[in-house]
Amino acid sequence: MSKGKSLWSELHKKLFEKNSLILTVGILVTVSIGGIVEIAPLFYLDSTIEEVDGMRPYTPLEQLGRDIYVREGCYNCHSQMIRPLRDEVERYGHYSLAAESMYDHPFQWGSKRTGPDLARVGAKYSDEWHRDHMRDPRSVVPESIMPAYAFLEHSTLDYDNVAANLRALRAVGVPYSDEMIEMAVADITTQLDPYASDYDGFLARYPGATLRDFDGNPGRVSELDAMVAYLQVLGTMVDFSTYEAEADQNLR
Ligand code: HEC
Repeated sequence: MSKGKSLWSELHKKLFEKNSLILTVGILVTVSIGGIVEIAPLFYLDSTIEEVDGMRPYTPLEQLGRDIYVREGCYNCHSQMIRPLRDEVERYGHYSLAAESMYDHPFQWGSKRTGPDLARVGAKYSDEWHRDHMRDPRSVVPESIMPAYAFLEHSTLDYDNVAANLRALRAVGVPYSDEMIEMAVADITTQLDPYASDYDGFLARYPGATLRDFDGNPGRVSELDAMVAYLQVLGTMVDFSTYEAEADQNLR
């Protein structure tokens, strides 16, 4: 054994091992060095969520659909978070990015999958399929154990307070502009009408959103309109063909 090492172990024995207070202070100093190394870099990052092209706040109609999803407890059976595991990626598509739920308050990652993950269910089925499925899940998936939500198409959507809803979301960081909040009530009916007079204005506010009558009944603004609009946008905002390309560039 070298002389230096035995001197150190003598010191360790006398100073730390025989004096619990010094040992405690020594542990605290060591642990806090580890803590600072992990925590300090976070203070210098603008955001821990990587920005991704295509993400936009939900339209007022999609947001109200999301509120109905929460109200009805769909999260009790459905997750919205695809993990980066092979079986999940092969079944559901690209794993979920943090940015994809950055405008979700509260997020709907869920913890239970009685039914499939819904993070990328948008554009997977037609509106008509969703209507049939909500009305009677067994009519499209005979072995389904999902309850029916037939009342949604008969319930008139209550959207008088949607501007306040968006304002509350802005308070927690969703970038709704004054214009979006001002137009919120009008944007509900605009999104349901593919011939809306404010078509261009709506798309400028919500790039990539779809305008159509989601519940198949143009005469009524129903809760089903909001629900289908929400389901059809899930996981569709980020274009993964270009996202992958950018990710590859960063590796080079
Ligand atoms: C009791 C559990 C349960 C609840 C609650 C539930 N679901 Fe489901 N859901 C299922 C099951 C099981 C399936 C798979 C069979 C099927 O497609 O019906 C499913 C399938 C789905 C699908 C098709 C997914 C796919 O990729 O094929 C959608 C969309 C869906 N549910 C939406 C909803 C919505 C919206 C709600 C709330 C209004 C809801 N579910 C509530 C159990 C549930």
